[in-house]
Amino acid sequence: MRKVILAALAVFAMNVMAADDGATLFKKCAGCHGANAQKKALGRSEVINAWKSDKIVSALQGYKTGTFGGAMKGIMKGQVSSLSKEQIKALADYIPTLKN
Ligand code: HEC
Repeated sequence: MRKVILAALAVFAMNVMAADDGATLFKKCAGCHGANAQKKALGRSEVINAWKSDKIVSALQGYKTGTFGGAMKGIMKGQVSSLSKEQIKALADYIPTLKN
């Protein structure tokens, strides 16, 4: 019984880590921004792997609250609305480590 509980806890911990891991979170962004965040998403965004973390954090939080964005901000709002602060931070730390 104890083993089962420990195994369950281990799986739970792994899921929690994966959910806040920048590389894992970025997978859903790669379709538009490119695997290395090297593309202009849908030909419209800037190339975000050239951005600093804090700039990415403010952009993502701005999309979430509606205070940031251009003509296609609705698309990004849908992408970030379910992300927590921690997840936004993890993405913002991860994206600048990517190279073209
Ligand atoms: C369906 C395509 C799509 C997906 C998926 C997507 N984006 Fe975007 N992203 C865009 C578009 C289009 C823009 C430009 C929106 C605008 O007009 O403000 C953008 C803009 C951005 C910007 C600001 C860049 C700028 O030029 O102002 C950041 C940062 C960003 N996205 C990060 C992300 C992250 C992180 C994810 C994953 C959680 C993600 N995007 C998922 C299409 C996408």
